[in-house]
Amino acid sequence: MFSAPHLLGIKNLNRNDIEMVFAQADHFKEVLRRPIKKVPSLRDVTIANLFFENSTRTRISFELAEKRLSADTLNFSASSSSTKKGETLIDTVNNILAMKVDMVVMRHASPGSCVFLAKHISASIVNAGDGTHEHPTQALLDAYSIRERLGNVEGKNVLIIGDILHSRVALSNIYCLQKLGAKVKLCGPPTLIPRHITSLGVEVEYDIEKALQWCDVANILRIQLERQTVQYIPSLREYALYYGVNKKRLENLAKPIVIMHPGPINRGVEITSDVADGEHSIILDQVENGVAIRMAVLYLLNQVRVGDQAQVVK
Ligand code: CP
Repeated sequence: MFSAPHLLGIKNLNRNDIEMVFAQADHFKEVLRRPIKKVPSLRDVTIANLFFENSTRTRISFELAEKRLSADTLNFSASSSSTKKGETLIDTVNNILAMKVDMVVMRHASPGSCVFLAKHISASIVNAGDGTHEHPTQALLDAYSIRERLGNVEGKNVLIIGDILHSRVALSNIYCLQKLGAKVKLCGPPTLIPRHITSLGVEVEYDIEKALQWCDVANILRIQLERQTVQYIPSLREYALYYGVNKKRLENLAKPIVIMHPGPINRGVEITSDVADGEHSIILDQVENGVAIRMAVLYLLNQVRVGDQAQVVK
């Protein structure tokens, strides 16, 4: 059984939890290849997708995962809701739960918002990205995609390049990859690397050429201009020049490396189109695997939820 009632972050998971998600995702990937891509696993389970912040991939991926599992879903978008009239997060969610919702998938701009919610409501909560804190399902699908391409995550050298300071993807990836036995190195402008990040057991390399030479996998992050309250880099052009991953940089390497990006991509800034769309890119595999991973997470959390309810009834 999954060790937690919610998926709030990777930090509190153990390796067994992660491997359980992968094994379940293997099964659901097989389901998704069938002519009828649907199973009744979450029939009669109601899931609310609460997106207080923009999303394309995560939102569609969760919705599709829920539909493939036969769950009943409802979608909430903050921009067209009563939060605009001053309603609090707890009031909004409690009103939705009063309509008998079993699980909540939430994206919110505030770090810790899912942890806060978990203390106040009884439904299972899945963090779909909370500010600059964690994005656990992204890290799970990233590690799963590395495992799929390279056979294993253990012992692999994974480089995360770019805006680490504002990235929930970076933090969740660091926790997930380390729990699976990978070595993690970070690369980016000093202004976008948090000062005490090495306390997490990662190394930092500021020279992109050396960093790329070291790695088996490069996970390239977006420059998050919307989260930058001050100017951390002189210009996007300069960022592309010093830290952008382009074909010339990859041609200089001793061996091909796997190219990843969580999306959305700023083409021509952190990655050029020929690299993003090239033969070593697994960017669209990441998106495809996201559905199976999210099916697995929802399925496993529902098992915990139903188990807890059975105990209460006894
Ligand atoms: N990777 C990711 O979280 O993308 P979205 O913001 O489009 O969901």
